[in-house]
Amino acid sequence: MVVARDYKSFTEVRDGLKGTIGFVPTMGALHEGHLSLIRRAREENDHVIVSIFVNPTQFLEGEDLDKYPRREEADRKICELAGVDLLYMPTTDQIYEEDELCIGAPKIRGYILEGAKRPGHFDGMLQVVMKLLNLSRADRAYFGKKDAQQLALIEQMVRNYFMKTEIVPCEIVRDADGLALSSRNLYLSDEERRRALSLSRALKKAGKLIQGGERKSEVIRSVMTGVLEPEVTKLEYVAIVNRKFQPLEEVVPGETIILVAAWVGKTRLIDNLWV
Ligand code: PAF
Repeated sequence: MVVARDYKSFTEVRDGLKGTIGFVPTMGALHEGHLSLIRRAREENDHVIVSIFVNPTQFLEGEDLDKYPRREEADRKICELAGVDLLYMPTTDQIYEEDELCIGAPKIRGYILEGAKRPGHFDGMLQVVMKLLNLSRADRAYFGKKDAQQLALIEQMVRNYFMKTEIVPCEIVRDADGLALSSRNLYLSDEERRRALSLSRALKKAGKLIQGGERKSEVIRSVMTGVLEPEVTKLEYVAIVNRKFQPLEEVVPGETIILVAAWVGKTRLIDNLWV
């Protein structure tokens, strides 16, 4: 595995990779969720590129940019063992220049739910993902369904800008107790972790209601809220939308995503269920 830290060395190695490229962009602190993306990229392509870059432009003022977990050495080993060919770990000045040309999130889909709670987050996320897709010139790029809105916006960016990379959505990976894997889980104390399980529990309950024939979003949301509110510090939203992120009054199986965002202590968590 080659580790590149600047554009020139990255491009030199990238240019030498013949065959198909699978790409997994990450912000590091790699866990089983990232590994499942890397494994899938490994299975479906001749070469795998991973990037680790804690992208400052997708963090809002006062968010956890400074304390976001950084585990360079452990991440490097994980990538090596997983059969990654090229690991890109750039510094910020290798990615950004001052007074950049910027792309922006769409005015509706980019400013609801996560976009409403974290205005500007998706602009920065899309900016860096476009750069990384252009740099890697990947045939396929792998993203987890846990960041469902991020995934939808990346798919839209690729469509709207006629980019050639195929975006591959990958299933959410959970711990045995149901907690969706996230680098931010590292912030949780034991007690907070127990309370954080209410997110997956609420989604599971929604799934059961739907299996039992319930379709009314209002009923499902109210049951979920009942599970979440006693446990979380602050419930930000429970939303039931279609794959285009338009709100649904009734669940349509095969076309629905149920999303939840909540604070547990000082940690903001998201989770979702594709129905
Ligand atoms: O999901 C993430 O880890 C980040 O948003 C991404 C896609 C690597 C862009 O910084």
